[in-house]
Amino acid sequence: MSGHPTPIPMASQSAGPLKGTAVIPGDKSVSHRSLILGALSVGETKISGLLLGQDVLDTARAMAAFGARVIDHGEGNWSVNGVGVGGFSEPEDIIDCGNAGTGVRLIMGAMSTSPINATFTGDASLRSRPMGRITDPLELFGAKSYGRSKGFLPLTMVGARDAHGINYTSPHPSAQIKSAILLAGLNSLGETTLIEPEKTRDHSERMLRGFGANIETVETKNGFEITLEGRPELIAQNIAVPCDPSSAAFPVCAALIVEGSEIFLPNIGLNPTRSGLFTTLVEMGADIVFENNRLEGGEPVADLRVRASSLDGIEVPSDRAPSMIDEYPILSVVAAFASGKTIMRGIKELRVKECDRIDAMARGLEAMGVKIEEGEDYLIVHGQNGEVEGGGIAQTHLDHRIAMSFLCMGLASKKSVKVDDGHAIATSFPIFTNLMSDLGAHITS
Ligand code: S3P
Repeated sequence: MSGHPTPIPMASQSAGPLKGTAVIPGDKSVSHRSLILGALSVGETKISGLLLGQDVLDTARAMAAFGARVIDHGEGNWSVNGVGVGGFSEPEDIIDCGNAGTGVRLIMGAMSTSPINATFTGDASLRSRPMGRITDPLELFGAKSYGRSKGFLPLTMVGARDAHGINYTSPHPSAQIKSAILLAGLNSLGETTLIEPEKTRDHSERMLRGFGANIETVETKNGFEITLEGRPELIAQNIAVPCDPSSAAFPVCAALIVEGSEIFLPNIGLNPTRSGLFTTLVEMGADIVFENNRLEGGEPVADLRVRASSLDGIEVPSDRAPSMIDEYPILSVVAAFASGKTIMRGIKELRVKECDRIDAMARGLEAMGVKIEEGEDYLIVHGQNGEVEGGGIAQTHLDHRIAMSFLCMGLASKKSVKVDDGHAIATSFPIFTNLMSDLGAHITS
C-alpha cells in the first residue's frame, strides 16, 4: 500500500431501490485490538470474523514481525500465539502500516515500553498524519522517537527499558491516543492513568479487561479517568468480532436516501461509544428498527432494518462527535438529501483523519451542486430536499470513507457521481462494491 498505487476511478448512478440483506465485515477497531492483544497474551487467541481489510492485514503482519505466531485459517478465522506482555522481539525490517492510523499508533504504544527499536512507515496519507500526539506521551514512559521534522513517519521508536506508569491527560478526544498509552502501560511498573475529557470508543478497556488486565474507569469532574495496573499476565481469549457499525453506515445511509429501499443488516456492533450516527439519523426522521438487541462478547449488538425515509436537517450535538467521528462524511451526504440545514460542530479532529475530511467533503459536495458552509471545526450542509444534482468528480485523497460516501451519493443523485480513486476502500471494506451491487446498487470501476 505504501508506494503510489495506480488510482482506481469509480462511479455510481441511480438504479432503483436497494433491497436485501447486507452482511457487514468485522469491526476494524476490534480487529486491530484482537491481533495486538492476542500477540501480547500467553497462549492461543482464536479470532472469528476478523476484518480482512488491508489495514488489519498490515497489523497482522506487524504482530508476526514482533514475534507472535499469526495464522490465517481462512474465512476470517485467525489464531495468534502470543509472546506475553514484555515479550516482543525486535523486528528485522521496517514496519509498514499502510493506510492505518489505528494500526501504527497502537503498535507504537505496545512496543514503546520494551527495550527494542522499530521503524514505522505507511502510505502517503499515513506519512502526512500527526504522530506527536502519540510520541509525546510515549516519551513520558522513557521511549524515544526519531521521525521526520514535525514527527511525521517514517519514524523510529526506541523502546524504554524498565518503564514506569504515567499519569496523562489527553489533549484530544482520541481512542488511538488512549489505547497507545494503555498498551504502553501494560509493560510498565505500577499504574498508568489516562484522563480523557470526552469519552471515546472503549474497545481497548473492554478487551483489556477480557484478557485479564486490572483496569477501571471512573467519571470525575475532569472527565473519564482510566487506570491500568502494569505488568499483568494477559491470557489468550476466543474473540468473535462484531460487524462494523462504521462500515454498516454506508448501506444504511444509502438505503435511507434511495427511494423505495428496504434492507436488513444482521449483527451490527452498537457499542454506545460508536453508535452516534444511528442516534442522529433517527433524530432526522430515519426509519431504522433495532431488532434482537443483545450482548455478544461483551459488546452490544442488534439487527437493523432500514427503510428509505424523508429526512430533516438537525444540529448534531458537538458532544456526540467522538461516538460518530468516522461517520461525518456519510452523514454529510445524507444531509444533502434532507430538507433544511444540518449543522455539524466540534469536528476539528476530522482534519487529521486519512485526509482533511472537512475539506474533502466540502469540496466534493460543492462539485455535486450542494451548498455548504465550512469553518475550522464545523461543516454546515444545506439540504436539497431529495434533489441532489450530482454529476461531479470527488477527490478522495487516499481516504476510504470519502470514496464510499460519494459513491453512496451517486445512487440517489440526478446525475452519476465519480470519485477519482477508490482503491483505499479495500483498507476497511474490501467487499463494499460487491455488497452494494448485491443490494441493487450500480457502482462501477
Ligand atoms: C479508532 C479511533 C478513531 C477513529 C479510527 C479508529 C480506533 O481515531 O477515527 O477510525 O480504533 O481507536 P482517533 O483516535 O484519532 O479519533
